[in-house]
Amino acid sequence: MIRRRLAILVSGRGSNMDAILRAAENPDYPLVPVVVVSNRAGAPALEKARRHGIEAIHLKGGPTFEDRLVRVLEKRGVEVVALAGFMKLLRGAMLERFADRILNIHPSLLPSFPGLDAQAQAFEHGVRVSGCTVHLVDSGMDTGPILGQRCVDISSCHNEKEVASAILEQEHVLYPDILARFAMNLYRTEGRRTTEVKTGPHGQDFLALHFGVGTDPGQRDVAVSACLLGIPCRYAGDSRAHEGVLRHVEGRRVLPVCPEVLGGMWTPRAPMIVHGPTGPGMWKDGAQAISEDGENRTQALLKGAERAAGLVSRSGVREVILKERSPSCGLHRIHTPQGLKDGHGAFAEILKNMSVTLRTEEDFPSSRTENLD
Ligand code: GRF
Repeated sequence: MIRRRLAILVSGRGSNMDAILRAAENPDYPLVPVVVVSNRAGAPALEKARRHGIEAIHLKGGPTFEDRLVRVLEKRGVEVVALAGFMKLLRGAMLERFADRILNIHPSLLPSFPGLDAQAQAFEHGVRVSGCTVHLVDSGMDTGPILGQRCVDISSCHNEKEVASAILEQEHVLYPDILARFAMNLYRTEGRRTTEVKTGPHGQDFLALHFGVGTDPGQRDVAVSACLLGIPCRYAGDSRAHEGVLRHVEGRRVLPVCPEVLGGMWTPRAPMIVHGPTGPGMWKDGAQAISEDGENRTQALLKGAERAAGLVSRSGVREVILKERSPSCGLHRIHTPQGLKDGHGAFAEILKNMSVTLRTEEDFPSSRTENLD
Protein backbone atom coordinates (compact mmCIF):
# COMPACT_ATOMS: atom_id res chain seq x y z
CA MET A 1 0.00 0.00 0.00
CA ILE A 2 1.20 3.49 -0.81
CA ARG A 3 0.80 5.76 2.17
CA ARG A 4 0.10 9.37 1.33
CA ARG A 5 2.32 11.98 2.93
CA LEU A 6 0.55 14.06 5.55
CA ALA A 7 1.35 17.42 7.16
CA ILE A 8 -0.50 18.50 10.30
CA LEU A 9 -0.88 22.20 11.10
CA VAL A 10 -1.39 23.13 14.75
CA SER A 11 -1.45 26.10 17.08
CA GLY A 12 -2.15 24.63 20.50
CA ARG A 13 -2.18 21.49 22.62
CA GLY A 14 -2.51 19.08 19.70
CA SER A 15 -4.81 16.38 21.01
CA ASN A 16 -6.30 15.82 17.55
CA MET A 17 -2.81 15.71 16.11
CA ASP A 18 -1.96 13.12 18.72
CA ALA A 19 -4.98 11.00 17.73
CA ILE A 20 -3.86 11.13 14.09
CA LEU A 21 -0.25 10.28 14.93
CA ARG A 22 -1.41 7.32 16.99
CA ALA A 23 -3.61 6.04 14.19
CA ALA A 24 -0.69 6.41 11.80
CA GLU A 25 1.50 4.20 13.98
CA ASN A 26 -0.36 1.36 12.32
CA PRO A 27 1.62 0.65 9.13
CA ASP A 28 -1.68 -0.06 7.38
CA TYR A 29 -2.97 3.45 7.97
CA PRO A 30 -3.08 5.08 4.52
CA LEU A 31 -1.29 8.26 5.58
CA VAL A 32 2.20 8.79 6.89
CA PRO A 33 2.73 12.00 8.86
CA VAL A 34 5.93 13.67 7.70
CA VAL A 35 5.84 17.06 9.37
CA VAL A 36 3.95 19.09 11.96
CA VAL A 37 3.96 22.88 11.59
CA SER A 38 2.81 25.40 14.19
CA ASN A 39 2.31 29.13 13.76
CA ARG A 40 2.81 29.52 17.53
CA ALA A 41 6.29 29.09 18.98
CA GLY A 42 5.39 27.47 22.28
CA ALA A 43 2.57 25.24 21.07
CA PRO A 44 2.64 22.06 23.22
CA ALA A 45 1.73 20.16 20.05
CA LEU A 46 5.28 20.66 18.73
CA GLU A 47 6.85 18.84 21.64
CA LYS A 48 4.23 16.09 21.45
CA ALA A 49 4.98 15.59 17.76
CA ARG A 50 8.71 15.29 18.44
CA ARG A 51 8.00 12.66 21.06
CA HIS A 52 6.30 10.70 18.29
CA GLY A 53 9.49 11.10 16.26
CA ILE A 54 7.90 13.50 13.77
CA GLU A 55 9.67 16.60 12.53
CA ALA A 56 8.00 19.62 14.16
CA ILE A 57 8.56 23.16 12.94
CA HIS A 58 7.55 26.60 14.15
CA LEU A 59 6.87 29.03 11.30
CA LYS A 60 6.54 32.67 12.27
CA GLY A 61 3.45 34.51 11.02
CA GLY A 62 3.70 37.50 8.71
CA PRO A 63 2.92 38.37 5.11
CA THR A 64 5.09 35.62 3.64
CA PHE A 65 3.76 32.89 5.96
CA GLU A 66 1.82 31.03 3.28
CA ASP A 67 4.68 31.03 0.78
CA ARG A 68 7.11 29.72 3.38
CA LEU A 69 4.60 27.10 4.45
CA VAL A 70 4.10 25.91 0.88
CA ARG A 71 7.87 25.55 0.50
CA VAL A 72 8.18 23.54 3.73
CA LEU A 73 5.40 21.18 2.64
CA GLU A 74 6.57 20.84 -0.95
CA LYS A 75 10.08 20.02 0.17
CA ARG A 76 8.71 17.10 2.16
CA GLY A 77 6.47 15.85 -0.61
CA VAL A 78 3.27 16.51 1.35
CA GLU A 79 0.08 15.41 -0.40
CA VAL A 80 -2.59 15.94 2.27
CA VAL A 81 -2.80 18.64 4.96
CA ALA A 82 -4.75 18.29 8.20
CA LEU A 83 -5.54 21.35 10.29
CA ALA A 84 -5.78 20.32 13.92
CA GLY A 85 -6.52 23.32 16.10
CA PHE A 86 -4.72 25.60 13.63
CA MET A 87 -5.95 29.07 14.56
CA LYS A 88 -5.30 30.94 11.36
CA LEU A 89 -7.29 31.33 8.16
CA LEU A 90 -5.42 29.92 5.21
CA ARG A 91 -5.56 31.76 1.94
CA GLY A 92 -3.62 32.46 -1.24
CA ALA A 93 -0.69 30.23 -1.97
CA MET A 94 -1.70 27.37 0.34
CA LEU A 95 -5.25 27.13 -0.97
CA GLU A 96 -4.01 27.18 -4.56
CA ARG A 97 -1.22 24.68 -4.09
CA PHE A 98 -3.20 22.24 -1.93
CA ALA A 99 -6.70 22.91 -3.28
CA ASP A 100 -9.18 20.27 -2.05
CA ARG A 101 -6.47 18.50 -0.11
CA ILE A 102 -6.67 20.46 3.15
CA LEU A 103 -9.00 19.16 5.86
CA ASN A 104 -10.08 20.75 9.11
CA ILE A 105 -11.94 19.61 12.19
CA HIS A 106 -14.40 21.91 13.87
CA PRO A 107 -16.10 21.27 17.24
CA SER A 108 -19.74 21.76 16.18
CA LEU A 109 -22.20 20.39 13.68
CA LEU A 110 -21.54 22.87 10.88
CA PRO A 111 -23.01 25.10 9.60
CA SER A 112 -24.10 25.77 13.19
CA PHE A 113 -21.62 27.63 15.34
CA PRO A 114 -18.68 28.30 13.02
CA GLY A 115 -15.67 30.28 14.19
CA LEU A 116 -14.22 30.63 17.66
CA ASP A 117 -15.58 29.03 20.84
CA ALA A 118 -18.03 26.78 19.03
CA GLN A 119 -18.63 24.75 22.18
CA ALA A 120 -19.50 27.84 24.22
CA GLN A 121 -21.78 29.04 21.41
CA ALA A 122 -23.60 25.71 21.45
CA PHE A 123 -23.92 25.70 25.24
CA GLU A 124 -25.19 29.30 25.36
CA HIS A 125 -27.64 28.61 22.60
CA GLY A 126 -29.05 25.70 24.58
CA VAL A 127 -28.86 23.08 21.85
CA ARG A 128 -29.34 19.53 23.06
CA VAL A 129 -27.17 17.95 20.43
CA SER A 130 -23.90 19.24 19.04
CA GLY A 131 -20.88 17.40 17.68
CA CYS A 132 -17.93 17.77 15.39
CA THR A 133 -17.39 18.17 11.68
CA VAL A 134 -14.50 17.35 9.37
CA HIS A 135 -14.60 19.44 6.21
CA LEU A 136 -12.50 20.50 3.29
CA VAL A 137 -10.93 23.90 3.70
CA ASP A 138 -11.85 26.75 1.41
CA SER A 139 -11.24 30.48 1.78
CA GLY A 140 -14.12 30.96 4.27
CA MET A 141 -14.27 30.31 7.99
CA ASP A 142 -15.38 26.68 8.47
CA THR A 143 -17.37 26.80 5.24
CA GLY A 144 -15.89 24.06 3.02
CA PRO A 145 -17.73 20.91 1.92
CA ILE A 146 -18.46 18.51 4.76
CA LEU A 147 -16.80 15.08 4.77
CA GLY A 148 -18.02 13.68 8.05
CA GLN A 149 -19.79 14.50 11.29
CA ARG A 150 -20.42 12.94 14.66
CA CYS A 151 -23.25 13.92 16.99
CA VAL A 152 -22.80 14.37 20.71
CA ASP A 153 -25.67 14.63 23.21
CA ILE A 154 -24.75 17.63 25.36
CA SER A 155 -28.08 17.94 27.18
CA SER A 156 -26.60 16.87 30.48
CA CYS A 157 -23.51 19.13 30.29
CA HIS A 158 -23.37 21.84 32.96
CA ASN A 159 -20.96 24.19 31.27
CA GLU A 160 -19.01 24.79 28.07
CA LYS A 161 -16.01 22.88 29.42
CA GLU A 162 -18.05 19.71 29.74
CA VAL A 163 -19.41 20.30 26.25
CA ALA A 164 -15.88 20.72 24.89
CA SER A 165 -14.57 17.55 26.47
CA ALA A 166 -17.55 15.46 25.36
CA ILE A 167 -17.08 16.68 21.80
CA LEU A 168 -13.30 16.34 21.87
CA GLU A 169 -13.59 12.65 22.63
CA GLN A 170 -15.56 12.19 19.41
CA GLU A 171 -13.19 14.42 17.43
CA HIS A 172 -10.40 12.00 18.19
CA VAL A 173 -12.41 9.17 16.70
CA LEU A 174 -13.79 11.06 13.71
CA TYR A 175 -10.70 12.85 12.41
CA PRO A 176 -8.26 9.95 11.92
CA ASP A 177 -11.06 7.95 10.34
CA ILE A 178 -12.19 10.61 7.85
CA LEU A 179 -8.59 11.38 6.97
CA ALA A 180 -7.97 7.72 6.18
CA ARG A 181 -11.05 7.56 3.96
CA PHE A 182 -10.00 10.76 2.24
CA ALA A 183 -6.52 9.39 1.63
CA MET A 184 -8.08 6.28 0.12
CA ASN A 185 -9.92 8.50 -2.33
CA LEU A 186 -13.35 7.45 -1.11
CA TYR A 187 -15.03 10.87 -1.40
CA ARG A 188 -16.68 12.39 -4.44
CA THR A 189 -17.55 16.09 -4.33
CA GLU A 190 -20.21 17.86 -6.36
CA GLY A 191 -20.44 21.48 -5.36
CA ARG A 192 -20.98 21.49 -1.62
CA ARG A 193 -22.17 17.90 -1.46
CA THR A 194 -19.71 15.14 -0.77
CA THR A 195 -20.68 11.53 -0.99
CA GLU A 196 -18.64 8.64 0.19
CA VAL A 197 -18.06 5.79 -2.17
CA LYS A 198 -19.60 3.03 -0.14
CA THR A 199 -17.91 0.31 -2.05
CA GLY A 200 -14.44 -0.70 -1.11
CA PRO A 201 -12.20 -2.18 -3.75
CA HIS A 202 -14.24 -5.35 -3.37
CA GLY A 203 -17.72 -4.06 -4.11
CA GLN A 204 -20.74 -2.91 -2.25
CA ASP A 205 -22.38 -5.84 -0.62
CA PHE A 206 -19.53 -6.66 1.53
CA LEU A 207 -18.67 -7.34 5.12
CA ALA A 208 -15.91 -8.79 7.20
CA LEU A 209 -16.37 -11.86 9.30
CA HIS A 210 -14.15 -13.21 11.97
CA PHE A 211 -14.42 -16.68 10.67
CA GLY A 212 -14.27 -18.60 13.87
CA VAL A 213 -17.98 -17.97 13.37
CA GLY A 214 -19.98 -19.84 10.85
CA THR A 215 -17.42 -21.98 9.13
CA ASP A 216 -17.33 -25.73 9.03
CA PRO A 217 -13.88 -27.26 9.29
CA GLY A 218 -13.83 -27.99 5.56
CA GLN A 219 -14.39 -24.36 4.72
CA ARG A 220 -11.85 -23.10 7.16
CA ASP A 221 -8.89 -23.77 4.89
CA VAL A 222 -10.53 -21.65 2.22
CA ALA A 223 -11.21 -18.94 4.76
CA VAL A 224 -7.59 -18.99 6.00
CA SER A 225 -6.28 -18.56 2.47
CA ALA A 226 -8.79 -15.84 1.63
CA CYS A 227 -7.84 -14.01 4.80
CA LEU A 228 -4.12 -14.16 4.05
CA LEU A 229 -4.71 -12.97 0.51
CA GLY A 230 -7.27 -10.35 1.55
CA ILE A 231 -9.84 -11.51 -0.97
CA PRO A 232 -13.57 -11.83 -0.40
CA CYS A 233 -15.57 -15.05 -0.62
CA ARG A 234 -19.22 -15.78 -1.14
CA TYR A 235 -20.66 -18.03 1.50
CA ALA A 236 -22.53 -20.98 0.17
CA GLY A 237 -24.63 -21.02 3.30
CA ASP A 238 -24.29 -24.72 3.91
CA SER A 239 -22.27 -24.50 7.09
CA ARG A 240 -24.23 -25.59 10.13
CA ALA A 241 -22.11 -23.71 12.65
CA HIS A 242 -24.37 -20.74 13.26
CA GLU A 243 -27.40 -20.44 11.09
CA GLY A 244 -28.29 -16.88 12.20
CA VAL A 245 -24.99 -15.50 10.94
CA LEU A 246 -25.12 -17.64 7.85
CA ARG A 247 -28.56 -16.42 6.91
CA HIS A 248 -27.20 -12.89 7.17
CA VAL A 249 -24.13 -13.50 5.01
CA GLU A 250 -25.61 -15.96 2.57
CA GLY A 251 -24.92 -14.95 -1.00
CA ARG A 252 -23.06 -11.81 0.13
CA ARG A 253 -19.44 -11.08 -0.40
CA VAL A 254 -17.57 -11.65 2.80
CA LEU A 255 -13.98 -10.99 3.66
CA PRO A 256 -12.88 -13.56 6.20
CA VAL A 257 -10.68 -11.75 8.67
CA CYS A 258 -8.81 -13.35 11.50
CA PRO A 259 -6.23 -11.62 13.70
CA GLU A 260 -4.75 -14.97 14.67
CA VAL A 261 -4.13 -15.90 11.04
CA LEU A 262 -2.76 -12.46 10.24
CA GLY A 263 -0.54 -12.67 13.31
CA GLY A 264 0.97 -15.81 11.81
CA MET A 265 -0.25 -18.31 14.38
CA TRP A 266 -2.95 -20.31 12.70
CA THR A 267 -1.80 -23.79 11.98
CA PRO A 268 -2.32 -25.47 14.25
CA ARG A 269 -3.83 -22.84 16.45
CA ALA A 270 -4.30 -23.76 20.05
CA PRO A 271 -7.17 -21.83 21.67
CA MET A 272 -6.07 -18.81 23.68
CA ILE A 273 -7.17 -17.49 27.03
CA VAL A 274 -6.64 -13.94 28.31
CA HIS A 275 -4.67 -13.66 31.53
CA GLY A 276 -4.36 -10.49 33.59
CA PRO A 277 -6.64 -7.48 33.77
CA THR A 278 -9.83 -7.45 31.76
CA GLY A 279 -12.00 -4.51 30.80
CA PRO A 280 -11.79 -2.04 27.93
CA GLY A 281 -8.13 -1.11 28.37
CA MET A 282 -6.90 -4.58 29.10
CA TRP A 283 -4.30 -4.80 26.37
CA LYS A 284 -2.71 -1.55 27.46
CA ASP A 285 -2.94 -2.74 31.07
CA GLY A 286 -0.81 -5.72 30.32
CA ALA A 287 -3.22 -8.53 29.52
CA GLN A 288 -1.53 -11.58 28.06
CA ALA A 289 -2.98 -14.01 25.57
CA ILE A 290 -1.69 -17.46 26.44
CA SER A 291 -2.48 -20.47 24.33
CA GLU A 292 -3.59 -23.68 25.94
CA ASP A 293 -0.18 -25.17 25.30
CA GLY A 294 1.30 -22.38 27.44
CA GLU A 295 2.79 -20.18 24.73
CA ASN A 296 2.54 -16.43 25.09
CA ARG A 297 0.82 -15.19 21.92
CA THR A 298 0.24 -11.60 22.99
CA GLN A 299 2.59 -9.88 20.53
CA ALA A 300 1.47 -11.99 17.62
CA LEU A 301 -2.14 -11.33 18.48
CA LEU A 302 -1.65 -7.55 18.71
CA LYS A 303 0.18 -7.53 15.39
CA GLY A 304 -2.55 -9.64 13.82
CA ALA A 305 -5.24 -7.34 15.22
CA GLU A 306 -3.56 -4.30 13.62
CA ARG A 307 -3.23 -6.06 10.30
CA ALA A 308 -6.84 -7.16 10.42
CA ALA A 309 -7.97 -3.59 11.15
CA GLY A 310 -5.86 -2.38 8.21
CA LEU A 311 -7.56 -4.92 5.97
CA VAL A 312 -10.98 -3.74 7.12
CA SER A 313 -10.08 -0.10 6.56
CA ARG A 314 -8.51 -0.61 3.11
CA SER A 315 -11.24 -2.78 1.71
CA GLY A 316 -14.07 -0.39 2.58
CA VAL A 317 -15.87 -2.89 4.79
CA ARG A 318 -18.80 -1.28 6.62
CA GLU A 319 -19.82 -4.09 8.90
CA VAL A 320 -17.77 -6.52 10.92
CA ILE A 321 -19.15 -9.60 12.62
CA LEU A 322 -17.02 -10.56 15.57
CA LYS A 323 -16.76 -13.86 17.28
CA GLU A 324 -17.96 -13.00 20.75
CA ARG A 325 -15.83 -14.29 23.63
CA SER A 326 -12.65 -14.78 21.62
CA PRO A 327 -9.49 -13.13 23.02
CA SER A 328 -8.99 -11.19 19.81
CA CYS A 329 -12.54 -10.38 18.81
CA GLY A 330 -14.80 -10.68 21.83
CA LEU A 331 -16.81 -7.48 21.93
CA HIS A 332 -18.29 -7.71 25.40
CA ARG A 333 -16.81 -10.76 27.04
CA ILE A 334 -13.69 -12.81 26.66
CA HIS A 335 -12.39 -16.09 27.97
CA THR A 336 -10.12 -15.92 31.00
CA PRO A 337 -8.83 -18.63 33.30
CA GLN A 338 -11.63 -17.63 35.68
CA GLY A 339 -14.27 -18.08 32.99
CA LEU A 340 -15.98 -15.40 30.92
CA LYS A 341 -15.16 -11.83 31.99
CA ASP A 342 -16.18 -8.37 30.77
CA GLY A 343 -13.75 -6.89 28.29
CA HIS A 344 -13.06 -6.85 24.61
CA GLY A 345 -10.41 -8.32 22.40
CA ALA A 346 -7.48 -6.52 20.80
CA PHE A 347 -9.12 -6.42 17.35
CA ALA A 348 -12.45 -5.27 18.81
CA GLU A 349 -10.63 -2.50 20.65
CA ILE A 350 -9.21 -1.06 17.41
CA LEU A 351 -12.48 -1.48 15.53
CA LYS A 352 -14.39 0.45 18.17
CA ASN A 353 -12.57 3.57 16.99
CA MET A 354 -13.37 3.03 13.33
CA SER A 355 -16.56 3.85 11.47
CA VAL A 356 -17.77 0.30 11.03
CA THR A 357 -20.82 -1.41 12.43
CA LEU A 358 -19.79 -4.06 14.91
CA ARG A 359 -21.91 -7.11 15.55
CA THR A 360 -21.37 -10.43 17.15
CA GLU A 361 -22.97 -13.73 16.37
CA GLU A 362 -25.23 -13.11 19.36
CA ASP A 363 -26.94 -10.35 17.38
CA PHE A 364 -28.26 -12.96 14.97
CA PRO A 365 -31.05 -15.14 16.27
CA SER A 366 -30.38 -18.79 15.73
CA SER A 367 -32.15 -21.94 16.72
CA ARG A 368 -28.78 -23.65 17.11
CA THR A 369 -26.52 -22.39 19.82
CA GLU A 370 -24.25 -25.30 20.60
CA ASN A 371 -21.34 -24.01 18.53
CA LEU A 372 -21.30 -20.49 19.86
CA ASP A 373 -18.09 -21.01 21.82
C1 GRF B 1 -10.44 21.20 18.65
O1 GRF B 1 -11.61 21.35 19.40
C2 GRF B 1 -10.72 21.33 17.17
O2 GRF B 1 -11.99 20.88 16.81
C3 GRF B 1 -10.61 22.81 16.95
O3 GRF B 1 -9.58 23.22 17.79
C4 GRF B 1 -9.46 22.34 18.88
C5 GRF B 1 -8.04 21.84 18.87
O4 GRF B 1 -7.74 21.00 19.95
N1 GRF B 1 -10.40 23.11 15.55
P1 GRF B 1 -6.40 20.13 19.92
O5 GRF B 1 -5.24 21.12 19.76
O6 GRF B 1 -6.48 19.20 18.76
O7 GRF B 1 -6.35 19.45 21.25
